[in-house]
Amino acid sequence: MSEIKFSPVIAGTMKWGVWGSKFDTNEYLQLIDDCMQMGVTTFDHADIYGHYTTEEEFGKALAERKELRSQMQLITKCGIKMVTPNQPHHAIKHYDTSKEHIIHSAHLSLKHLHTDYIDLLLIHRPDPLMHPDEIAEAFTQLKEQGKVLHFGVSNFTPSQVEMIASRFPILTNQIEISILYLKPFIDGTLDQCITKNIIPTAWSPLGGGNLFALAQEDERAKRIIAVADILAEKYSVAPGMVHVVESFYWT
Ligand SMILES: NC(=O)c1ccc[n+]([C@@H]2O[C@H](COP(=O)([O-])OP(=O)(O)OC[C@H]3O[C@@H](n4cnc5c(N)ncnc54)[C@H](OP(=O)(O)O)[C@@H]3O)[C@@H](O)[C@H]2O)c1
Repeated sequence: MSEIKFSPVIAGTMKWGVWGSKFDTNEYLQLIDDCMQMGVTTFDHADIYGHYTTEEEFGKALAERKELRSQMQLITKCGIKMVTPNQPHHAIKHYDTSKEHIIHSAHLSLKHLHTDYIDLLLIHRPDPLMHPDEIAEAFTQLKEQGKVLHFGVSNFTPSQVEMIASRFPILTNQIEISILYLKPFIDGTLDQCITKNIIPTAWSPLGGGNLFALAQEDERAKRIIAVADILAEKYSVAPGMVHVVESFYWT
C-alpha cells in the first residue's frame, strides 16, 4: 500500500460552491492557500457537491496553480445519482454502486479536479443493492491503473463495512459524529474501526453548525458551550476552536 498521508484536519468543500459560499476561482485559491498554511492539506469532495459543479470549480482553481496538487490530498465520493439539469440522463434519484458507475464517476472526478490521481475514493452512502464483488472489481481496476490510491466508504453500518472489507481493504468509514451526534460511540461503528484498523473520518464535526445555532435554546448545547468556554480559557483559544478547528476531522 502506498504511504498514507492525510492531514488530521480535513477541509470539507460541500459548501464552497453553489450549495453555500459560491466562491469564484480567486476565492477558492485563497481558501485553499489559507487551509494549507494551517496544515490542512486534505480536501474532501463528492461528485454530487454543488449538483456536480464544485469539483469542477475547485479543479479550475487547481489548474491555475498546478504546483499545489502534489502538496495536497484529494478525497472524493461516488455512488449517488442525483437528479439535476447538470445530469439530464438521471431520471430518478438513486444509488448506483455498479462497477461501471464507480469507474465512470471516478473518471469524471479526475477530469473535473484536473488531476491524474485521487488519493481516496469513497462510496458515499450504502446502496441497498450493492455487491462487494462488484465494488471490489471497480476499486481493483482504478488502483491498478494508478487512478485512485486508497478506498473507503461513508455512512456504512458495521455489517456493511464487514461485507466490503471481506473483498477489498477499506481505509476509512466517513461518518457523522460530533458532540451533538454520539451514535457511532455506541452502535459498534467506532469499535469496528479499532478492531479492523479502519480510520474513522468525521463529517459535520460541529453538528453542521447546530451547536452554535442552538446555543440559546437547547439545554444540551448550552451545557456543551459552558464547558467549551472553560476549556477555551484554559487553552487560550476562541470558544469555537474548542469544538474542532475546521469543518472536518480525520481522527
Ligand atoms: N459523507 C457524507 O455523507 C457527508 C455529509 C455531510 C457533510 N460531509 C462533509 O463534511 C464537511 C463538513 O460538513 P459541515 O459543513 O456540516 O460541518 P460542520 O463543521 O459540522 O459545520 C459547519 C457549520 O458550522 C458553522 N460554524 C463553524 N464554526 C462556527 C462558530 N465558531 N460559530 C458559529 N458557527 C460556526 C459554520 O458556519 P459558517 O458557514 O458561517 O462558516 C458552518 O455552517 C462537508 O464539507 C463535507 O465535505 C460529508
